[in-house]
Amino acid sequence: MNEAIRIDGKRAAAGIIEKVKAAAQRLTKDTGLVPGLAVVILGEDPASQVYVGSKARMAEECGFHSVKHVLPADAEEDELLALVAELNGDPAIHGILVQLPLPAQIDTAKVIQAISAEKDVDGFHLVNVGLLGTGAIDRAFVPCTPAGSMILVRQVLGDDLSGRTAVVVGRSNIVGKPMAQLLLAANATVTIAHSRTKDLAAVCRTADILVAAVGRPEMIRGDWVKDGAVVIDVGINRIEAPEKGEGKTRLVGDVAYDECAERASAITPVPGGVGPMTIAMLMANTVVSAHRAAGAEAPGF
Ligand code: GUN
Repeated sequence: MNEAIRIDGKRAAAGIIEKVKAAAQRLTKDTGLVPGLAVVILGEDPASQVYVGSKARMAEECGFHSVKHVLPADAEEDELLALVAELNGDPAIHGILVQLPLPAQIDTAKVIQAISAEKDVDGFHLVNVGLLGTGAIDRAFVPCTPAGSMILVRQVLGDDLSGRTAVVVGRSNIVGKPMAQLLLAANATVTIAHSRTKDLAAVCRTADILVAAVGRPEMIRGDWVKDGAVVIDVGINRIEAPEKGEGKTRLVGDVAYDECAERASAITPVPGGVGPMTIAMLMANTVVSAHRAAGAEAPGF
């Protein structure tokens, strides 16, 4: 049986971080400007706390000015909007990230649109969504998870996906839709599939590039994968692992890795695949934003 190449997201992410550090140092030396990232979180959700903590730490490691704002879980929408307005006007801040999901009393769309598009390093603002949708990728901030996934695809298949079919399973605004736009911009023939798709397995089997972003543990089975396909697993699901002992858990993706690796030519593991790329791309977007603010030519990633 042909065993797939295991795509090493940790290594790719480390390479991007090195590039970000070098770009930040050069920018600071040339212009005096230090890239600044503000992360905002409401409440104490443990998983979100971990994500936000690692984003803030990585920003520091990159030599950025890094600030973290923690508001109470029951904070009013106006309080959050006031903080966003303050960060929009702060010249030391080039990237603003409000950690999602937000509590029920907050209108998420309103908060996202309140972030200045020039500081929207998540790529969720309608201006950035529109730039990506019209193919103006160089001017957009592209959402971090699809941007990182695309770098892994390019690492295996190169920049031009002409003649290749791609199936993205999942239609979220954060991953599925922007991922489809990136694949389309690289000339792939793209299908977006989702929970209402008829015979999802058969659709997946048409894919030269299969991207799973559904949030369902190990949903993509081995016989859903075309021989030689490149499989990108965006899912991070914590499941019970009684084999490790009582009450233990482990992380799995949306892809049944072992089965799919028998068919694929290359596949991302979980953990260690797309996950590390997401934070790396947040740093990349922030250093690009700082370059734009300084009127300096931004590095490409
Ligand atoms: N929550 C889970 N993923 C993300 C992300 O990429 N950005 C933000 N802001 N919140 C998230």
